[in-house]
Amino acid sequence: MLADRLDNRMRHVSKWARKQGISCFRLYEKDIPDFPMIVDWYGSPASEGGGDAVAWFFHRTKDDTFERDCEYRAAAEAEILAGLGITRDRLFIKQRGRQRSEEGGRDQYERVDSRACGRIVHEHGLRFEINLSDYLDVGLFLDHRPTRLSVQQRAAGKRVLNLFAYTGAFSVHARAGGAAKTTTLDMSKTYLDWYERNLALNNFEVNSDHRAIHADCLQWLEAGPTGGELYDIVVCDPPTFSNSKRMKADSFAIDRDYPDLLRSIARFVAPGGEVFFSTNSRSFELDLAHVPANFGAHEISHRSVPEDFRNRKIHRCWRLAEGWKPKERSSDKKAANPDTLPE
Ligand SMILES: C[S@@+](CC[C@H](N)C(=O)[O-])C[C@H]1O[C@@H](n2cnc3c(N)ncnc32)[C@H](O)[C@@H]1O
Repeated sequence: MLADRLDNRMRHVSKWARKQGISCFRLYEKDIPDFPMIVDWYGSPASEGGGDAVAWFFHRTKDDTFERDCEYRAAAEAEILAGLGITRDRLFIKQRGRQRSEEGGRDQYERVDSRACGRIVHEHGLRFEINLSDYLDVGLFLDHRPTRLSVQQRAAGKRVLNLFAYTGAFSVHARAGGAAKTTTLDMSKTYLDWYERNLALNNFEVNSDHRAIHADCLQWLEAGPTGGELYDIVVCDPPTFSNSKRMKADSFAIDRDYPDLLRSIARFVAPGGEVFFSTNSRSFELDLAHVPANFGAHEISHRSVPEDFRNRKIHRCWRLAEGWKPKERSSDKKAANPDTLPE
């Protein structure tokens, strides 16, 4: 059953993806209750090695025995290989659970392997490096593909600030859209180096107008726009929770800390500028009372979640715009005021 489902989805979604100019997409998302997993496809042209699948397994039930779990995994693995017609070396299996850092364990962004199975994938005419083996995430979050395209379409001549940038995919899109300036921040040197490789893959580089800053975003924002630099577009997609030792604060929790975060971001927004603020936190609620004065907030999740995602709650995303009048401060999707985010 799983094999058939994957085969069907591959035929259907790959056609759609080709038209969109994307080579990596979500194929399967807990569609069959007996196989509660996610399967993503990362295709690269045959000359670069074909395609690979990443399967994220979740714990099924608390009382699964070790033997039953092994049987389930072997069965699921065989179905994936049959359904996608790939060999075992093209399947990367990862375990998903609660974010381990929240439990005091290993950080979600730490290295978990060292095989360095790197590939190049395509998204709307741009190239990105992914690493299928060494981390829990591969280097490109598929759920923000439409938001990245929106940023690209709005970036011409704009100053763009990308916070919690990871491998910098938003900034690469902003560069492709003709951004005048980009500032890209992450506290991981590994991911900033990866960002520079993503830039190079698309014939861009870091320079005085396009900076990559290795810093704790919270601390950097707290200092304020010291050089007077303001931005027309700010992208902020922070982790749900972090207690990384590299941060000045003991911990960061988006549900708790977003009012301060939005307040400090507001100081960097140029008149008429906008902020794309997103979170994967399931429990997050945006209280309009915490949206900085002079900003309107409009939820755009119905358009920012990609078509290939069955889980429409994978993230929530808001567009905050500077200079909105108080009557326009609405987070309701059906609000009368027109959201100018292009489809
Ligand atoms: C949720 S991901 C961001 C996803 C990214 N916006 C994208 O779409 O690819 C988390 C990233 O935030 C970085 N990070 C977490 N806490 C940070 C902090 N306080 N300052 C800077 N970067 C941070 C991590 O190193 C990681 O690269």
